[in-house]
This record gives sequence, structure tokens and C-alpha cells, in this order.
Amino acid sequence: MKEKRTGFATRLGAIAATVGSAVGLGNIWRFPYQAGENGGGAYILVYLICVILLGIPIMMSEFIIGRSTHKNMKGAVQQLTPGSPFKFFAYIGVLGALLICGYYSVVCGWVIEYLWNSADGSLLGHTPEQYSDMFGSLVGTPQRCVLWTLLFLLLNFLVLSRGIQKGVERIANIMMPLLFVLLIVFCVNSLLLPGSMKGMDFLFNPKFENLGWKGVVDAMGQAFMSLSLGVTCLITYSSYFNDDSRLMKDAVTISALDTLVALLAGIVIFPAVFSFGMDPKAGPDLIFNTLPTIFQQMPGGTIWAVLFFVLLFFASITSTISLSEIPITFLIDEYKLSRTKALIITAVLMAVVAVLSALSFSTLSDVTLFGKNIFDFLDYVGPNIFMLLGGLVTAIYVGWFLKKEIIHNQLTNGGKYRSSFVQPYIIFCLRFIAPVAIIIIFMYYTGIF
Ligand code: PHE
Repeated sequence: MKEKRTGFATRLGAIAATVGSAVGLGNIWRFPYQAGENGGGAYILVYLICVILLGIPIMMSEFIIGRSTHKNMKGAVQQLTPGSPFKFFAYIGVLGALLICGYYSVVCGWVIEYLWNSADGSLLGHTPEQYSDMFGSLVGTPQRCVLWTLLFLLLNFLVLSRGIQKGVERIANIMMPLLFVLLIVFCVNSLLLPGSMKGMDFLFNPKFENLGWKGVVDAMGQAFMSLSLGVTCLITYSSYFNDDSRLMKDAVTISALDTLVALLAGIVIFPAVFSFGMDPKAGPDLIFNTLPTIFQQMPGGTIWAVLFFVLLFFASITSTISLSEIPITFLIDEYKLSRTKALIITAVLMAVVAVLSALSFSTLSDVTLFGKNIFDFLDYVGPNIFMLLGGLVTAIYVGWFLKKEIIHNQLTNGGKYRSSFVQPYIIFCLRFIAPVAIIIIFMYYTGIF
């Protein structure tokens, strides 16, 4: 007998899990420093436009594919459009997920070390130069990096071994509300610091002269990364949605919450950076070097540091859980493996990629692909190639090849709700805007302009 596939228990749980996937290092680590580098408010404006024109329509199209079939991308395409070659893009999703999760969990490993050091009191009390050395010594010590990364993956797979409802959904139901509370507390604290308004001005005042094409392209890539698009993650999660979830409303809610977290993260970081006279353009090091310097100047610094890294840990693990669920669901659906077997195979593959990435700054620093070490290479191809390519394929598939009735049925739950202007809007974005925008990004990467 065919085993029945269990889905999320509640609609709210499904939303929490999907927000958990979307909210991650992308929001708290990547968005603020990118906004800082690319003209503040100007970047944020382009980002918001990308979310509305590309993010929400592609998110809805992934939801349509997953929820209408309750299958992974391959099975879904076979059911919706038998014989269509689009099913092969399922492999891009699976491979993309393995690669992205591989390097992402290395950063999560760093987060655990920082959390550990904050808790035992050894993180604070150093000069900015010492912080930079500390970070350098962490990434340059193979044993430490590998150990923390594997520990993180172990925790990740422990949650996943409990299944969709008891693992994925439960952890999201607990961690997401806590994450919002922590973020708000951090925001209030930052805004109360002397000179905080300079940080707000830096973040929100649009400086179009600092944007340029690079800023526009970064904002588009960031929207894909942040909303977890293009690697069939949302197809996978929505295959566990119940038939009463409302795809239009849920996609808008999830995208809005994700954007809110990114903005709040900026409001946490920049006022503090300005208040303590640090460099707002520190780039990717912002969290690991700049923030400890700030925490130690604040009353109760240790507690702030612990809370911050706890927040980052919550945000990251709910994202890696969703990335890992892509191969797991694929193996269960397509090869009829048990969840345990699928989980073990995924864990082993991910651990291999993760260990290679963790060694990129030490033992394997000489191994380069297209001039980048393994970690940087994955950080580049994951979001910039896999996610965008997957997004392009999904947009074209749903926009041009999927029957309108299926789209309508999914958006309106079989005619129960009205889709009014949403359906034509989505289809227009999927057919024209998304392909053109993504192709422009690819041209930009290849240096055509
Ligand atoms: N959206 C996550 C973040 O912002 C990353 C992610 C990408 C998660 C793709 C799942 C799938 O950090």
C-alpha cells in the first residue's frame, strides 16, 4: 500500500516553516552589508521592486507546482505536463540545495563558535584588530571549522529526522516568534543609542550615485536568495501544504515578513555601527568583526552577544532545514526510499560538500575553481547561477506551459476565493518581466554589459 504523505499540521505552521526558510543569513548578514555598499535607500527601493515584480510571482508559481501535486518538482512536472523535459530541472534544485547548504552550514558553524565564545565570556574584551585576528584564526584552523560545521549539520539533521510535523513545523513554530521578539528588542536598543539617527540615514536615505548596475543586479540576486527561490525549496515545502492554504495571501505574507526581517536587521546594525564609530561598509565581516566590538561597549554586552548569535542560529537552522528537505523529499518521492535512508544519503552528501568548504581557508586554500576557493565558488554559483536559473525555468514553465485552469484553481482554491487582478498580474510577470530581468542579470555576469 502507498504510504500517505503527511503534510504540515496547520496553515500557520506551514507559513512559519516557509518564513523560517526565507529568513536566514541572507536577511541578517547579507542584506544589511549589501544595502550599506550599494546606496542604502536606493538599494532598498530596487529590492522592494524586485520582490513585487519577481519574488512574489515566482514564489506563487513554486507554490502552484507543489501544492497542486503534493510532489517534488520532478514528480509534479510529470503529473502536470506528462512528457515535459522541465522535469529535469528538479536535478538543478537538488544539486543547488546540496551546494548551497554545503557552504551555508560553514557560516552556521562560525555562528556556533561565536555563540559558544559569547556564552563563556571569552568573546568580548578585545580590540578591533584582535577581532579580525580571531576571525582569521577561526577560518584558518581546519579542525575548528570542520568540527563546528559538522556539529551544526548534526543538529540540522536531528530536527529533520523528526519529520515534517514534529521536526520542521515544530521548530519553526517555536523559533520564528522568538526570532521576531529578539529582533524587535535589538531594534529598540539600537535606536536608543546616541547618534543612532545617522545610521538610519545611512540605511534609508537613497544615494542613487552609489547604486549603479552592480547594485541593481545585487538587489535582484538578493531577492532570490532571501525568498529561497529557484532551487525548488518552495515547491518542496508547498507539496506539504494542506489544500486549505491560501497561496496568494500566504505568498504575500511570507514575502512581507521576510522583507521586514531584512529591514529590521539593518535597523539593528547600522545605528549601532554609527553610534560606536565603526565602518558601515565592512562588508561580509560586519557581523563577525564589527558587532563584537559594539557589544562589548554596551552595558550587559555578553547577554546581547549571546542573544544575537542565538537569533542568527535560529534564522540559519530553519533555512538549512528547508534546503536539506529538497533532496530528502526528492529521494523519498522518486526512489521510494524511507525517510531515514533519504536523510542519511542527504546528510552524507552535504557533509562532504560542507567539509570541503570548511577547509577552503586552510588545508584546501590552494584548490581554486575559476579563481575562487571552494567556499567562495559555492557562494557565487549557488545564488547567482542555480537560484536564478531555477527561477527562470519556473517562471517560464508556469507562465507559458502550465494550463491556466490549474493556476486559477490553485490561486482560488477551486473557485472558493477570487483572484481578481492577481492572476493576470502573476502571469504577466512570469511570462515577460522575470525572464527578461533574469537574462539581463546573466548578461551582466558574463560581462556583456
Ligand atoms: N533564504 C535563505 C536566506 O535568506 C537561504 C535559502 C536559499 C534557503 C534557498 C532555502 C533555499 O538565508
